[in-house]
Amino acid sequence: MNNDLSDLRVHLITYGCQMNEYDSHLVASELAARGATIVDSVPEANFVLVNTCAVRGKPVEKVKSLLGHLRKEKERRRGRFLIGMMGCLASLEEGQEIGRRFGVDVLLGAGAIHKIGDALRETRFWDVGFYPEVDEIVPPPPQGALSAFVTLIRGCDHHCTYCVVPKTRGPEISRHPDLVLREVEGLLEAGVLEITLLGQNVNSYGKDQPDYPDFAELIRRVAALGVPRLRFVTSHPMNFSDRIIEAIAETRAVGQYVHLPVQSGSDRVLKRMAREYRRDYYLDRVELLRRSLPDLVLTTDVIVGFPGETEEDFQQTLDLYDQVGFDSAYMFIYSARPGTPSYERFEDLPREVKVERLTRLIEKQKEWSLRRNQAWVGRQVEVLVPGPAREEDWALGHDQSNHPVLLPVAEVGEPGLYRAVIEQASPHMLFGKVLGKVAAPGEVA
Ligand code: SAH
Ligand code: SF4
Ligand code: F3S
Repeated sequence: MNNDLSDLRVHLITYGCQMNEYDSHLVASELAARGATIVDSVPEANFVLVNTCAVRGKPVEKVKSLLGHLRKEKERRRGRFLIGMMGCLASLEEGQEIGRRFGVDVLLGAGAIHKIGDALRETRFWDVGFYPEVDEIVPPPPQGALSAFVTLIRGCDHHCTYCVVPKTRGPEISRHPDLVLREVEGLLEAGVLEITLLGQNVNSYGKDQPDYPDFAELIRRVAALGVPRLRFVTSHPMNFSDRIIEAIAETRAVGQYVHLPVQSGSDRVLKRMAREYRRDYYLDRVELLRRSLPDLVLTTDVIVGFPGETEEDFQQTLDLYDQVGFDSAYMFIYSARPGTPSYERFEDLPREVKVERLTRLIEKQKEWSLRRNQAWVGRQVEVLVPGPAREEDWALGHDQSNHPVLLPVAEVGEPGLYRAVIEQASPHMLFGKVLGKVAAPGEVA
């Protein structure tokens, strides 16, 4: 096979986080550049590529069941059908074993996805290395998008005991700032209004490359290109320095939204998780954030039912919730992942205990979310409506603080940025009335 892929009709299926969404876009554009057609369904495709996630047991189960269907499809088509597996699960021995079992033809670990073109020259291609070249590709802007991701740093140098990511995505490698800035410029020219900088730990940007700017400096440089709205995920409290908080406060495009995963409110649990900070340190970061950003909207990630978590430890998490008052949170039940230190070392808690604690935490978060959201009633916000309305009556967008906001379809003509006043709040949503359009795609607000 040569490198002309014009016979290939590719369907991409993506699980996992925004980093995987970005990677799928990157791979799709590489394939399209070589002549392949991207299609929307399995029946139309002769190559189905699954971008996988391994962070909890559930996404792994989903991938297995999908691969089961694809193996049957391959049998039905007598081999004229390729199955590809890429991303985080593919990086792990567990994923490679699954790949062998389900007859996967092409397997690319999360750090080798740029090899997709080479991979399709061979009948069977597996590569699970971590290559810095993956970040030399500057994918073209996604068509018609108002909101886009840009990868800043890959991998993770932390060692949280529950987490597979350091294994799936390898060590931290920062992307060259010129490439980041070039990609952002391209997106702005294409009319993108919101850019999210991505990394497992964006705050570490530049630590591995002394001649690169640090994250605080990079925020300023990216914003200086004229990005109307700038976001970043994810931050680790340990690397969330005063310098970064200062840069956020000085950069209008960033707004006052921060996602800062805490994971637990108990020092004992944080230590067993190897999170490298104590509860008081986290609270100190929150205090400085609130002082610097008076309208701060703060969200977090929490793991409930970590091995050895006692009722008292859990109470500490509930208590931290009341001290901080998060605007919203992703709350997860601990999932024991093979190959992680906590899987090897500790015994899992009974499922009922974990589920019961999660239910109580969700209840508490709901109260806080409602309280925090109600404080926005009567205030003016800017809402980015990224695509056509999916519901009959309401168009979904998000404001500068990343609240999901519903606007009446009748008041929203087309995707774009709208000024609105918040009239009502629920725990998960704000409801607004449109006052006018701020910027159409291509105009800078
Ligand atoms: N790098 C990011 C998050 C990566 S994974 C950070 O450190 O903040 C996203 C979230 O998944 C984590 O914040 C954590 O809350 C959750 N998570 C990771 N491993 C998990 C596991 N084994 N069980 C349950 N939740 C997990
Ligand atoms: Fe996983 Fe911890 Fe790294 Fe986040 S910081 S990706 S939770 S090891
Ligand atoms: Fe999943 Fe990998 Fe993201 S494990 S959460 S897709 S970094």
